[in-house]
Amino acid sequence: MQSNFEQNLLKIESDTKSSITNLDHESALEDLRISVLGRRGSLTLLLRSISDLPGNERQSAGSSANILKSELATMFDEKLKEIISLSQADSNLGETFFDVSLPGRTISSGSLHPTTQIVRDICEAFSTMGFQVLEGPEVELDEYNFQKLNIPDHHPARDMWNSLWIEGDSTESISRLLLRTHTSPMQIRVMESTQPPIRVLVPGKAYRYEATDATHEWQFCQIEGLAIDKNITFANLKATLEAFARQIFGSRRKSRFRCDFFPFVEPGAEMSIDCFKCDGAGCRVCGNTGWIEIMGAGMVHPEVLKGVGYDPDVYSGFAFGMGAERISMLKHGIDDIRHFYSNDIRFLDQFSSSTTGRS
Ligand code: FA5
Repeated sequence: MQSNFEQNLLKIESDTKSSITNLDHESALEDLRISVLGRRGSLTLLLRSISDLPGNERQSAGSSANILKSELATMFDEKLKEIISLSQADSNLGETFFDVSLPGRTISSGSLHPTTQIVRDICEAFSTMGFQVLEGPEVELDEYNFQKLNIPDHHPARDMWNSLWIEGDSTESISRLLLRTHTSPMQIRVMESTQPPIRVLVPGKAYRYEATDATHEWQFCQIEGLAIDKNITFANLKATLEAFARQIFGSRRKSRFRCDFFPFVEPGAEMSIDCFKCDGAGCRVCGNTGWIEIMGAGMVHPEVLKGVGYDPDVYSGFAFGMGAERISMLKHGIDDIRHFYSNDIRFLDQFSSSTTGRS
């Protein structure tokens, strides 16, 4: 039969253990701990009562009560840790809580620069006519930028391309370096490295040492074209460039060719289209002429053909060079070329929708 002491001990054990299990608040746990293990706690008082027991029961009663005391102390510690870690998890949940019913933030994505877009459109137009797209060096030799294009030293035509020279050790004009003033040196590089038939398109940057205004930048993009074969005539040049203009500007646009001078073509021409703004009637955009110039062109000069080792009696061809930004300005009605490179996102954003689906 159990003594009173043992019954009390068992009751304290079962009550305390079940209360610890059910508690989930730190303060309630502390209250319980004090009520059992504190100075006036139930187990503490029971331990003190051992001295009232008969001598032969004291040892086993003391031993059982102390074992329970340390067991309960451990349980209180573990329960406290559990409550603390649960409350930390709860507060983390509060920080990361998000409202799924809120509308999502718009993801801003980049788009192709308007110059890149127009270059791609122009390349596509010429690709359908069998032109291959190439690129060339932006730092060029005097020899290719001028001399092999029939523009010798001291030729007055050099004034047309005010140049940004790159300093070097050599004084030999043949090895002088500059930022190319036009993409025409690629005519020479292509002809030197291959044989006719040739149909190439060369987009790329060109640089000129000149003041900027609404239609002039010191750095801009040109697109050079070159076609060489037997029996190529000015009629082929006109037909090709008119087909290009219809594709870029629409079938309503008219084109006009007038004589112009470039030392590396003969005859040379400038191509214009009728003004998109006034349909050729004359307005501020076209300077009241009804026409807007879009490029220089012409039949490749026999001297240039000879220079690369082609026989001008066998081969002939045409070349042209246009400013990509100027074409974009005409197509989209942009009034100042300086918008292209001023990094104003409000300007660039206007072209973002037309890049959809482009690679
Ligand atoms: C040339 O650069 C010749 N190489 C073009 C050429 C090629 C003629 C092949 C004959 C045969 P021009 O300097 O006119 O020519 O420039 C050609 C085009 O580049 C111009 O019609 C214009 O669209 C563009 N361009 C010229 N200078 C600038 C500039 N500073 N800023 C923006 N675009 C320019």
